[in-house]
Amino acid sequence: MRSENFLVVGAHGNVGSEVVAALLARGHHVVAPVRRPGRSLPPGATSIVADIADPTTLGIDLAAIQGMFVMAGHRGLTRLLRLAREHNVRHAVLLSAAAAEHRTHDNALTSYHLRAEEAVAESGLNWTFLRPQSFCSNALRWVPEINSGGDVRLPFPDLAVACVDPRDLGEIAALALTEPGHAGNAYRVTGPEALLPAEQLATVSTQTGIPLRGVPLNDQDTRAHLLRDNPEPIVNAFFALYRRGGLDESMLTRTVSDLLGRAPGSFADWVTRHRERFTHG
Ligand SMILES: NC(=O)c1ccc[n+]([C@@H]2O[C@H](COP(=O)([O-])OP(=O)(O)OC[C@H]3O[C@@H](n4cnc5c(N)ncnc54)[C@H](OP(=O)(O)O)[C@@H]3O)[C@@H](O)[C@H]2O)c1
Repeated sequence: MRSENFLVVGAHGNVGSEVVAALLARGHHVVAPVRRPGRSLPPGATSIVADIADPTTLGIDLAAIQGMFVMAGHRGLTRLLRLAREHNVRHAVLLSAAAAEHRTHDNALTSYHLRAEEAVAESGLNWTFLRPQSFCSNALRWVPEINSGGDVRLPFPDLAVACVDPRDLGEIAALALTEPGHAGNAYRVTGPEALLPAEQLATVSTQTGIPLRGVPLNDQDTRAHLLRDNPEPIVNAFFALYRRGGLDESMLTRTVSDLLGRAPGSFADWVTRHRERFTHG
């Protein structure tokens, strides 16, 4: 198999790092635009200090790139896609979200992902959309409370989610970028089982050995909690999707087993592999 070059945006992130690992495991080379120098990538991956939102910093030779992994919400996405098309990049895999299945711009979260899907679809590149449910890595949001020894607040405590292991997304992205048959497909990716937040927290506690107590938040407290880190339209979007029946993240799909020939990664397995991130911040 010929080794090819792939651009991976977000190579230090939860999903991007897994895309990098999966492309390298397939024998390919990765070029990663990163905003800050200094953090290393695995051998076979080269980082270039670049902010894709800033046209003056994108000094990547796209003529040498066969495919790219991109995420929603980056201001420079449309321009990057245009440049990629001009340089005959073959394929783009977009990390979208399950919320994008609701094809409406009335919801801020849905619209955020829809806009990215539209930009990719209109780019002229072959495309594949990954539409995952919530990530298992969202549990890292508990780390500050765990580190401070306090109780862990649980927004939407009654919502069971079959969360997705970012490694599955990385492997599917690498598959779609390197094998034929995935252009024009949108994949709803789920984990293997739906867990309530308290069940996820109990798993973290078991796997890390840290005694943890969850505090379920009612809707009013959930809203206040989410507003600390998210703009109001996004918080409203969460409530519309989760409380008014727009989005059921307890859904299970066969996407991972159909594409990768194995079961999706479980939450417990993800925690086991990332245990030290809970114990060392
Ligand atoms: N969390 C969920 O449950 C969920 C579910 C479905 C979809 N999603 C989508 O998944 C995406 C987040 O994925 P993730 O968890 O892997 O993200 P993450 O861990 O937060 O990583 C994001 C990465 O993107 C890089 N980045 C951001 N802006 C950049 C720019 N302008 N130029 C170059 N690099 C840039 C960041 O680099 P720095 O290190 O420089 O910041 C970081 O490496 C979002 O689009 C979200 O909507 C999330």
